Amino acid sequence: MAALRSTSRLVASSKPLFRPAVFARSYATVDAAAQDPNPSETPRTKTFHIYRWNPDQPTEKPKMQSYSLDLNKTGPMMLDALIRIKNEMDPTLTFRRSCREGICGSCAMNIDGVNTLACLCRIPTDTAKESRIYPLPHTYVVKDLVPDLTQFYKQYKSIKPYLQRETKTEDGLEYRQSPEERKKLDGLYECILCACCSTSCPSYWWNSEEYLGPAILLQSYRWLADSRDEKTAERKHALDNSMSVYRCYTILNCSRTCPKGLNPARAIAEIKKLMAAH
Ligand code: SF4
Ligand code: SF4
Ligand code: FES
Repeated sequence: MAALRSTSRLVASSKPLFRPAVFARSYATVDAAAQDPNPSETPRTKTFHIYRWNPDQPTEKPKMQSYSLDLNKTGPMMLDALIRIKNEMDPTLTFRRSCREGICGSCAMNIDGVNTLACLCRIPTDTAKESRIYPLPHTYVVKDLVPDLTQFYKQYKSIKPYLQRETKTEDGLEYRQSPEERKKLDGLYECILCACCSTSCPSYWWNSEEYLGPAILLQSYRWLADSRDEKTAERKHALDNSMSVYRCYTILNCSRTCPKGLNPARAIAEIKKLMAAH
């Protein structure tokens, strides 16, 4: 993931949004551990450097801001640290979160060089090592750690992510599957659309207008693999061009980073096999 960091860049754009960038950063520091009036045990102070950018101050460059927390008083996950910073030190810090248990996908961000979910990411207990938290790489930034996923969701919509079927069942009941047919959806239906994989994919960084990227392709295969769906030919036809699928060069960043342990690269390989079968 070091490559991720080195290729992140500031992008000139008419959009009032920034992408995480490498540049001469200014640092501001807040120390909650030092402010604690009643330390009950030896403090375990850890420093977190967090990407900050405020769209209401568009002339100011993004910067890294540093916060120190006593881990004895902080929950075990990175999301706990972020919530504590926001609640007790700096209410202006902005990030998305909802479920805090790896289901909603909203707390996806780049933590210590890895795209992951803040609520599933343990704070490294080595206090000598400082943590660095950025928004998902190569996304436009709405504010601080909040990425703009407009294009991602537009692409998701484009694959028609729902059951398409006209034939009714003979008994008028639900569309049933055999256990074998249902099993084909394992490893696909669990995707929470967090975008960690797509924003770790170099092909997606450079071609995100046309290449669908690993998350959307995994979702696409989820419907191609569904025995109840009747639009396989149409779905394949929509993918049959040089950009939608074939920008995947099997670099495998996507499968390495998925916080749900899924394998988007394998789903893409299955799509390529289906396309080749015709
Ligand atoms: S495949 Fe994994 S990393 Fe990609 S969107 Fe789904 S859950 Fe997130
Ligand atoms: S395997 Fe394909 S989708 Fe996954 S990171 Fe590599 S190029 Fe991107
Ligand atoms: S808060 Fe929902 S996945 Fe992290």
